[in-house]
Amino acid sequence: MRGTSCLQVLFLLLLGAAGTLESAVCGQPRASSRIVGGQDARAGEWPWQASIQHHGVHVCGGSLIAPQWVLTAAHCFQRKAPLSEYRVRLGALHLGPASALAVSAPVQRMLLPPDYSEDRARGDLALLQLRRPVPLSSRVQPVCLPEPGACPPPGTLCWVTGWGSLFPGVPLPEWRPLQGVRVPLLDAHTCDHLYHIGTNVPHAEHIVLPGNLCAGYTQGHKDACQGDSGGPLTCLKSGRWVLVGVVSWGKGCALPYRPGVYTNVAIYSRWIQACLNH
Ligand code: ARG
Repeated sequence: MRGTSCLQVLFLLLLGAAGTLESAVCGQPRASSRIVGGQDARAGEWPWQASIQHHGVHVCGGSLIAPQWVLTAAHCFQRKAPLSEYRVRLGALHLGPASALAVSAPVQRMLLPPDYSEDRARGDLALLQLRRPVPLSSRVQPVCLPEPGACPPPGTLCWVTGWGSLFPGVPLPEWRPLQGVRVPLLDAHTCDHLYHIGTNVPHAEHIVLPGNLCAGYTQGHKDACQGDSGGPLTCLKSGRWVLVGVVSWGKGCALPYRPGVYTNVAIYSRWIQACLNH
């Protein structure tokens, strides 16, 4: 009897240790950041950053959340295009000539959140299962998922990264270096209020939904832009980078009173975790 319970305790301890180890391998880049108003990223600075490519052309950003899973935005995918036409590029610092350290992974399936709406207003997330787990390296590392329902307070400075336009209609230079920009978080309510400024939309009518969060400055200047969609908005928490938002939409880019709108990942943490464990 005694022996059994000791073994059980040992087993639980081992399980606990394994659990800690599991969570230890996210959100920690080994290297110690247009997007509008941003700066070039350094190698290995954002090792979860993915490029979702359709026939080899970058269409959206994404984030590696586990060796075989990438989180991006649902609106990145054309309804008619088969998944086999998409690949996920990881470990790239620039999208110019392929880097030897980058990998390009085929997609096996795509899962959409249960509340995803066809008009794409709600649940703008897509979970991609890669055909095989990608080898992790100094350039390829997963980001941490937020605790269900947890969100850093408004005003927290976070980073949005991607290969999107420098301004609407102004693509990155040929070399296409990954960009990052630091922006403060705004809650959905404040953001919705800003988005009503200068419009005739009645206040009772939401422009920014409760499932969103925003990041940016009232005066604009710093923001994600076209091509950054699906990409990560990450915040540092206790020394680890957490995927707080996924780039969803914005009116123009970096305009005053029009911050970038993101899908609030914490609302979907349980769904994501369930998909990963299935
Ligand atoms: N929807 C855009 C895309 O497909 C990205 C929008 C982000 N815009 C912004 N101003 N934050 O790439």
